[in-house]
Amino acid sequence: MKLKVITSNPGKVAEYQREFSDLGIEMEHVRLPYDEVQTSDLEEVVSKGMDAIVAQGARDFIIDDSGLFVDALKGFPGVWSAYAQKTIGNPGILRLMQGVPDRGAEFRCCIGCDISGRRIIVTGVCRGVITDSERGDGGFGFDPIFSHDGERTFAEIHMDEKNSISHRGNAVRLLIEAMKAQGLV
Ligand code: IMP
Repeated sequence: MKLKVITSNPGKVAEYQREFSDLGIEMEHVRLPYDEVQTSDLEEVVSKGMDAIVAQGARDFIIDDSGLFVDALKGFPGVWSAYAQKTIGNPGILRLMQGVPDRGAEFRCCIGCDISGRRIIVTGVCRGVITDSERGDGGFGFDPIFSHDGERTFAEIHMDEKNSISHRGNAVRLLIEAMKAQGLV
């Protein structure tokens, strides 16, 4: 079986391929522009994105959307994470969090999968805290300012360790469970 991964990010295709190869599912990278709705709900962004892709005639595909939701900022940057990363960046988030005692935050990753005419949408979460400063050279995006254990940031741990506890890793595991439960793999 083959699933299209509809994304502009080739790194995601490699990640999915690693997770799905054991199930005999091959991933194909497809760049297919589609409209993303403006809403504060990750699942809605993914669900409406899937509608737009199906309307273009595509079937058997995966899309995902993820973001960092900071408790004290009422969920910001959330669905606007990519934009916040490009504009204010990690220094901007740290500035907004300066002197804020509640450091709680979570990464969320929502995956939508259209497979054999069925639709599965799952969300993986990873809770942690926003650090006081940027630390570490690994990872990408908000990794240097997010710590799941309150000690090391995501930019300071190995990618395998990150995958074993991350929002994206958790979402992929939920997706595979749901596919198995529905007899799709
Ligand atoms: P996307 O929707 O998966 O492309 O993610 C949107 C934005 O969220 C990205 O531009 C990153 O800034 C941020 N992001 C998502 N996942 C991660 C992660 O695992 N680490 C750090 N930043 C992330």
